[in-house]
Amino acid sequence: MATALIVLAAGKGTRMNSDLPKVMHEVAGAPLFAHALTSGATLQPERAVLVVGHGAEMVGKAAADLDPEIIIAMQDEQLGTGHAVAQARPALDGFDGDAIVLYGDTPFIRPETLEAMAAERSAGADVVVLGFQAADPGRYGRLIVKDDVLERIVEFKDANEAERAVTLCNSGVVAAQASVLFDLLGGVGNDNAAGEYYLTDIVEVARSKGLTARVVTCDEAETLGINSRAELAAAEGVFQSNARAAAIEDGVTLIAADTVYFSHDTVIGRDAVVEPNVVFGPGVTVESESRIRAFSHLEGCHVSRGGVVGPYARLRPGAELAEHAKIGNFVEIKNAQIEEGAKVNHLSYVGDARVGEGANIGAGTITCNYDGVSKHHTDIGARSFIGSNTCLVAPVSVGDEAMTATGTVVTKDVPAGAMAVGRAKIEIKPGLAIKLFEKLKAAKARRQKGS
Ligand code: UD1
Ligand code: CA
Repeated sequence: MATALIVLAAGKGTRMNSDLPKVMHEVAGAPLFAHALTSGATLQPERAVLVVGHGAEMVGKAAADLDPEIIIAMQDEQLGTGHAVAQARPALDGFDGDAIVLYGDTPFIRPETLEAMAAERSAGADVVVLGFQAADPGRYGRLIVKDDVLERIVEFKDANEAERAVTLCNSGVVAAQASVLFDLLGGVGNDNAAGEYYLTDIVEVARSKGLTARVVTCDEAETLGINSRAELAAAEGVFQSNARAAAIEDGVTLIAADTVYFSHDTVIGRDAVVEPNVVFGPGVTVESESRIRAFSHLEGCHVSRGGVVGPYARLRPGAELAEHAKIGNFVEIKNAQIEEGAKVNHLSYVGDARVGEGANIGAGTITCNYDGVSKHHTDIGARSFIGSNTCLVAPVSVGDEAMTATGTVVTKDVPAGAMAVGRAKIEIKPGLAIKLFEKLKAAKARRQKGS
């Protein structure tokens, strides 16, 4: 069955106490709405529609950056969840498969759960609603079920005492054939406690038309919705503990799991070791048998098999380490290819560069990539040796098997096999140190006597 996603993301999120629209707040380095799109992606939707309202421009742009194919639907006034879904109608013109409605502020719905809903649709239910047994049903909508059939959903505000006692609650996720969904919404009014067009009312409308509605249930943890900063922080905690458990399950060694932070898209290979206090920003892949040592920060980078990073290293976007490359302590790498077996072990900055296979970059080496206006490239050849405290003033190249002397400021290309030396000549003056010490000590003694 062809599927379309409708993700509701128009709400303001007043309780976030923020200038940012709620769905722009991040869990694991990705905005909330992106998590909903990611879980929906397993259904391989033909179209994905994001309904935006508050901060529409910002949300729309962030969405397009993530997925250029996403369709943005505008909800100018937030008149309720039913009204929000109806705004997706033009975007689904000509689409006759199933629509799945997700909330942009509910990041943890598992793909398997959506698959179970799709299966229930295939089994013949016209409307499928995702429910859960709530430990504390609070203000959730209540699912009123009789003989396995969902009769209606009643919002907390509109519920009577008996209905409020029901613990089977509405997650908000709904599946139905798109054309049926929009038809049903046509029959939904706003004569209720909130004065809103409730998506949930489609169940009663469906029944009045002789259609069937059923419930698929999931774990309450999946339906966790974010309305406040406290819930956002809790969601981050849930994400991190799930990600740590998944990494361990996949064969990664985490020495102090609770101190390692993952992003939504971190990929780590089997038999990799991650030491304590490592942070993975977005866009990181670490291959098997690599070791990420303590207190390192990685983002937008790739570490190939057998690489060693850190302790205290920073890999920034575009850092690309080939197999068995070594990046040591207090080293920053940005937009640079570190080829096989190359080493940058101590106190260096390598940016906008290539470091050839087997090259050794001495302590304190800096690529001076920025002239205040533009960035320039540095090319360092295979098996070359860059002496400690070399400054490579880009654009510049050092050929294969070339050397630079310690402290050299490289402002010209160094051909393969050559040695670049650029420093003042040293002079040795025998006995001068002793004389100078005596003079300085005598001066100090005079000062102390005088005071
Ligand atoms: C909704 C459900 C409730 C369910 C709960 C689960 C309705 C009427 N109620 O209530 O049964 O238990 O979610 O969390 O559907 N949104 C828009 N435009 C609008 C209104 C909402 O885009 O006009 C978006 C919000 O940004 C949010 C989502 O829809 O992402 C849910 O809206 P919210 O107001 O939080 O619904 P609840 O009152 O929590
Ligand atoms: Ca809500």
